Amino acid sequence: MSSLAIVGSQWGDEGKGKIIDYLAGKADMVVRAQGGSNAGHTVVIRGKKYALHLIPSGILNSNTANIIGNGVVFDPESFFEELAGLERDGIPTDKIYLSDRAHIVFPYHKALDELYEKARGSADIGTTKRGIGPAYMDKIERSGIRACDMLDEGGFREKLEAQIAHKNRVITGLFGGAPLDAGEIARRYAEYARRLAPRVRDTGVMVHEALKSGRKVLFEGAQGSMLDIDLGTYPYVTSSHPVSGGFIVGAGIGLGAIHGVVGITKAYTTRVGKGPFVTELADATGDRIRELGHEYGATTGRPRRCGWFDGLVVRYSARVNGLTGLALTLLDVLSGFDELFLCERYERGGQAIEDFPADLGLLEGCRPVYRRLPGWGSDISGCSSYESLPENAKGYVRAVEEITGVPVKIVSVGPDREQTIIREEVF
Ligand code: IMP
Repeated sequence: MSSLAIVGSQWGDEGKGKIIDYLAGKADMVVRAQGGSNAGHTVVIRGKKYALHLIPSGILNSNTANIIGNGVVFDPESFFEELAGLERDGIPTDKIYLSDRAHIVFPYHKALDELYEKARGSADIGTTKRGIGPAYMDKIERSGIRACDMLDEGGFREKLEAQIAHKNRVITGLFGGAPLDAGEIARRYAEYARRLAPRVRDTGVMVHEALKSGRKVLFEGAQGSMLDIDLGTYPYVTSSHPVSGGFIVGAGIGLGAIHGVVGITKAYTTRVGKGPFVTELADATGDRIRELGHEYGATTGRPRRCGWFDGLVVRYSARVNGLTGLALTLLDVLSGFDELFLCERYERGGQAIEDFPADLGLLEGCRPVYRRLPGWGSDISGCSSYESLPENAKGYVRAVEEITGVPVKIVSVGPDREQTIIREEVF
């Protein structure tokens, strides 16, 4: 398969980093197409841990081109910090390219993210405060500043100063906040522009050429499908399209350019931030999953909310993404539980609910209907083949397939590359 998209099928943090890292080793090109520095996945390079936010995972392989597509909101501050970390350790960073159409995140986006959240009070979304929502707001409102704008020094300064003046009126007038220093920001960003210039390209052409010549292209999703601005648990979502369709616009490619879509799926469910979560376990079992799965955010360090596997969510995700396979991650975390629960559908007022509802009010009243399965006592983190898994673990994988209607092609039983069971090659 010469092109493959990887998406999170739940609320993000499904362990995409590890699977993408494994697949990126085979890719000629890795493409990010949405989100920004709100994403965070930890990868291990030569024994050292790196939290990548903006830089695509192809960075682990010196021959791979890494594309930050037009759909990403790009924060130069975060980018250069990540870059410095990699360069300090001698990792080649020359093959990272930024779309000339990508919108730039500025300090006022981050300031406004904080202020909007504060103003929402108890109805806050729980954003990562990386300025993502405000940057996409400017893009849609048509006042954003793009990477190509940064290349014209005089024009860039003019646009930026006008934006800062406008945003300062909002920050001080509406929220009573402190104004931002336009001169300091303009100077800093002029320097970023100078350093970014050699990386700024029409990346759509690069992706198109790679696909046309049959090179292997991996589309790397950030966040998860249930955080999609249109299809997720709105308004408790991010401001981009983490579903497979997001790659079409966010990388500037045509329908049909993606030959397969793998949904990275945790063997249980987590989410960070606010919003409904039908299978949430706000009890000792939830705490046990959090501790065993090290369920703390890579970007913010926040403890994640944990719960049983929500099959209705993944079934919904399979439909909206056109999933052709699942990579089931963190199965080892469930070792040692006497009994395991998988949600097959919801029930509300005696009525079965099979499709994920749009109305959060309706969702609040839903209760999960579970399939109960016996657990497995033994540690599975050393299992290197599907056959060597305990019968009950295989039964769990089969149940995931039955409930979601998607074949599980990869099973992950630990954080290392070797702890990956490939049932069917996907790329
Ligand atoms: P924002 O993307 O910072 O605007 O945050 C909006 C929502 O998306 C919040 O609930 C965040 O916790 C969530 N979110 C954003 N990025 C990620 C991610 O990479 N993993 C999981 N949740 C995320």
